[in-house]
Amino acid sequence: MGKRESIGIGLMGLGVIGGGVAKALMEREEAIASQVGCPLRLRKILVRDLAKRRVVEVEPHLLTTDPRQIIDDPEIDIVIEVIGGESPALELIKEAILKGKHVVTANKEVISKHGPELISLAQTKGVDILYEASVGGGIPLIAPFKQDLLANKISAIYAIINGTTNYILTRMASEGLDFSSALKQAQKMGYAEPDPTNDIEGIDAAYKLAILATLAFHTVVRPQDVYHEGISRLSSRDFRYARELGYAIKLLAIAKEKDASIEVRVHPVFIPEDLLLAKVEGVYNAVQVEGDLVGRVMFYGQGAGAFPTSSAVIADVIDLGQRINLGVSITSSLRLDPGKRIKPISEIETRYYLRLSTVDRPGVLAQISKILGDLQISISSVIQRETDVATGSAQIVLMSYPAQEWAMQRALKEIERLEVVKEISNFIRVED
Ligand SMILES: NC(=O)c1ccc[n+]([C@@H]2O[C@H](COP(=O)([O-])OP(=O)(O)OC[C@H]3O[C@@H](n4cnc5c(N)ncnc54)[C@H](OP(=O)(O)O)[C@@H]3O)[C@@H](O)[C@H]2O)c1
Repeated sequence: MGKRESIGIGLMGLGVIGGGVAKALMEREEAIASQVGCPLRLRKILVRDLAKRRVVEVEPHLLTTDPRQIIDDPEIDIVIEVIGGESPALELIKEAILKGKHVVTANKEVISKHGPELISLAQTKGVDILYEASVGGGIPLIAPFKQDLLANKISAIYAIINGTTNYILTRMASEGLDFSSALKQAQKMGYAEPDPTNDIEGIDAAYKLAILATLAFHTVVRPQDVYHEGISRLSSRDFRYARELGYAIKLLAIAKEKDASIEVRVHPVFIPEDLLLAKVEGVYNAVQVEGDLVGRVMFYGQGAGAFPTSSAVIADVIDLGQRINLGVSITSSLRLDPGKRIKPISEIETRYYLRLSTVDRPGVLAQISKILGDLQISISSVIQRETDVATGSAQIVLMSYPAQEWAMQRALKEIERLEVVKEISNFIRVED
């Protein structure tokens, strides 16, 4: 039935993901061929170092350090980009598209920063660019947003989309570890990079949220539109208070749309401990989506790793392979709704947890409450304890009712100036 004898594949990158993809393509050759309708032929693999030992055995003649051997090969129909990073991946993807090749990528940085332009470029060349693996590893997310959830007006996404930070927070919550010990454990287990900045500062999650929010709300959301805060300020005390108050602490990627205004933010959050998201532990990821027809749906699974991620990469390859084999040219486009605005963080409204170190003296709470009250911030509960006799310090923990972020930021500045306040130890947003 198909039109092709075979479909040529060029693989860029043979690291963690490239190795998993190459292995699966070789080991599942027949099953994939029967799905596509003809065999896939892996023609070249781009690497940096030809001499490097690989976890997957590939025929040496397949390896090259010259990207032109993929870009200029007319027999290659699909380029799989799993090099990572912005450059040279972006340039290589563009060149492949300009040469009329379809592209599959796992690259969240390139897609979040340049996805809309690459999709338009691909459209003009009659090819497609698919990126299921760029968010949530093996968890199907991009395809559901592009297809299965299309009938809905999506109002919110709450996502745990960074396994490294979720692992660290799980260890902090369950074992009372402080942040730096939990990070060291994550590095020892291979879950955190030697330079963990992108993960622990919420940058990786911001890339992924920008991709999901663009699809969910039909408007271009860039990584720089996503407000992000990391997890390094969290202490074991915050976890103890959270538990006492009935909450878990998670690094959540949150996207909401209300009245054509969108908020997109990544930061630590108190969430009620009985929510499903609160029970997502270790390196697992979960994405909760709220749509007006479907209600609440939850996607859960392994958000990284060679095999889960290669599952998503190969699904995209099979999808393209089927279209190529049948000779149907369906290219993706982004449907964009005009008139949507991305709110600055100062305009959000949420509840807050505040932990303060103060002098141990009567009237301290009254001074703090006055500042909050003057800014229309009402307190829902207070814990006051842990007086340290040696330093004459007290700990005050406050939970607020919903308040405007700008008002809370102003209150924090004023509270910090109070002579009775030694330190604002932490400030965490609450999502009920
Ligand atoms: N790791 C995960 O669990 C995961 C999950 C989801 C998505 N992703 C995404 O998948 C992509 C790949 O990640 P990874 O973990 O597989 O990375 P990796 O292990 O560092 O592998 C990168 C590969 O690309 C090659 N490479 C890098 N720069 C190159 C250049 N300038 N020219 C030629 N080859 C180059 C490297 O060659 P050498 O081997 O010769 O050094 C290596 O084979 C990234 O976009 C990442 O965000 C990863």
